[in-house]
Amino acid sequence: MKATARANSNIAFIKYWGNTDETLRLPANASLSMNLDGLHTETTVTWQQDEQHDTLTINGGIADDRALRRVSQFLDALRQRLGIRYGARVVSHNNFPMGAGIASSAASFAALAVAAAAAAGARLTERELSCLARLGSGSASRSVPSGFVEWRAGETHEDSYAFSVAPRVHWGLIDLVALVSSGHKAVGSREGHTSASTSDFQAIRVETAASRLDICRRALLERDFAAFAEVVERDSDMMHAVMMTSRPPLFYWLPGSLVLMDQVRRWRSEGLRVCYTLDAGPNVHCICLAEDANEIEARLGQVAEVQGVLRATTGGGAVVIG
Ligand code: DP6
Repeated sequence: MKATARANSNIAFIKYWGNTDETLRLPANASLSMNLDGLHTETTVTWQQDEQHDTLTINGGIADDRALRRVSQFLDALRQRLGIRYGARVVSHNNFPMGAGIASSAASFAALAVAAAAAAGARLTERELSCLARLGSGSASRSVPSGFVEWRAGETHEDSYAFSVAPRVHWGLIDLVALVSSGHKAVGSREGHTSASTSDFQAIRVETAASRLDICRRALLERDFAAFAEVVERDSDMMHAVMMTSRPPLFYWLPGSLVLMDQVRRWRSEGLRVCYTLDAGPNVHCICLAEDANEIEARLGQVAEVQGVLRATTGGGAVVIG
């Protein structure tokens, strides 16, 4: 009744923003991402036969009520689907700095889903695990398969899942995450998704997402960096346009984010293969070719607004490790 799983975080090239079903987390549009090797969560789940309640420890400390509630809600869905009646002891470790603004929910819920199913002795397919992880956090569905991953939107729980479109060795892409501090805590993705439809731009973003995803997938499969860079930046900008025009507005960019976005475009015009993408926070993910990564990292180090840089290559999928 005990198992440990590890899952990497991921960065979306074509973004997920807004749901058609908030409870099942069916996304408004399909998305495409790359797993981030080494930015991972390891989670041990023990189903406790004589316990009704769940407990949650994150990085050695007892988690706050809010985090426990979210995990318990997710475990309720798993209990229902796996036919379990016990409470669970959940112990989780992130190896990337908490508070660095790197979303941990993708790695956390992918690891939790895989560990919980293994601890229950359930033999589930990758697709079923991806569906389960999605119930905890949409982007977690993409951390289950390996390498470069597409999440099909789907219309039911069973057909909204992620799958690998290319193995991790397919293309030597690196994510250099430039950390730009924000003094205050940003509005989380969870609340953000519910407000996406209040922006007049969301409908057009969703309507055109499939065509951007096609362009991005093709560029990825053909290793065409110029086409890839153009569509990745456009998709990120469109998501942020929706965020900024939602009611109430959500501004995740800081002055430092804009400085970096401008620099990245400039460096690309000088011949470096790099583009940017931003999630629900001010950090700038600089996606680049491995050959150019050292030069770009050195240049990021010269930018005053950069407080640190994390580096990740393409990562594998979620795995049971014990
Ligand atoms: C901006 O998966 O974190 O990173 O389902 O509420 O947990 P929840 O949201 P989450 O949303 C991710 C939003 C994003 C874009 C992306 O990763 O596709």
